[in-house]
Amino acid sequence: MTNERFKDQIAIITGGADGLGLHIATRLIKEGARVWIVDRDEELGKAAAERLGCEFEPMDVADETSVTTAFSKILAATGRLDVMVNCAGIVGPNGVKIEDVPLSGFDQVQAVNVRGSFLTCREAVRHMGPRDYGRVLLVASIAGKEGNAGMSCYSTSKAGVIGLVKSVGKEYAETGITVNGLAPAVIRTAMVDKVEPEQVKYMTDKIPMKRCGTLDEMAAMVCWIVSPEASFNTGFTFDLSGGRAVY
Ligand SMILES: NC(=O)c1ccc[n+]([C@@H]2O[C@H](COP(=O)([O-])OP(=O)(O)OC[C@H]3O[C@@H](n4cnc5c(N)ncnc54)[C@H](O)[C@@H]3O)[C@@H](O)[C@H]2O)c1
Repeated sequence: MTNERFKDQIAIITGGADGLGLHIATRLIKEGARVWIVDRDEELGKAAAERLGCEFEPMDVADETSVTTAFSKILAATGRLDVMVNCAGIVGPNGVKIEDVPLSGFDQVQAVNVRGSFLTCREAVRHMGPRDYGRVLLVASIAGKEGNAGMSCYSTSKAGVIGLVKSVGKEYAETGITVNGLAPAVIRTAMVDKVEPEQVKYMTDKIPMKRCGTLDEMAAMVCWIVSPEASFNTGFTFDLSGGRAVY
């Protein structure tokens, strides 16, 4: 599919080296956007950018200096930012009850998923402000809405992302900038491959459609949310769960 929905637009996709981010970047490019993949995995990120014919900039979303530096570099090259999708995220401890979760695991997940969402969102709206236009999408999870047993760190972090989206969406509601979230159930990626098989079964068994979501289904929804057409939606976390969370 090729069209020009994002013609002349600049998009930053964090965690764009793999999984959801890579697929979103691919579709945005097909639809005319100039995309910057950012990721902490430089090797994977550079290889992905080369394949897609887009740009790459290293960034650790959990590190303030890394985030501000990378955004500044990209903005110096482009002079504008239309779309920012934060896909960088980690699962952390899973398949374990809270009594067996080390504090270091909890802190690490919050640093990447919550602090990373805060830092990338803050930087995006700072750079979108002057043009009074922008689309920010933070990838949360069904785990943040429903709470997955065995994933206390991850579920906590994604509930935090949903709260951040609600708050910042309202802060910018009278501007041309929208801030939304996405709550997918299970979509097969490298991240899911790292999750304990029993934990994956627990999550997929709960999906009423009795299957995982596909990367194409995910990217189609994301690209609408970050397009100019989605102009009356902000502060909302969109569901992508095959019927698991019908709210
Ligand atoms: N795959 C699913 O089923 C699913 C479901 C719900 C939510 N999500 C969320 O979607 C997002 C993407 O997940 P995925 O399945 O594509 O994972 P993935 O592991 O395939 O890709 C994540 C990417 O983020 C990068 N990354 C990790 N930590 C980073 C950091 N600190 N700074 C910069 N980059 C970092 C990784 O290098 C990787 O390229 C995550 O936030 C995840 O929680 C995924």
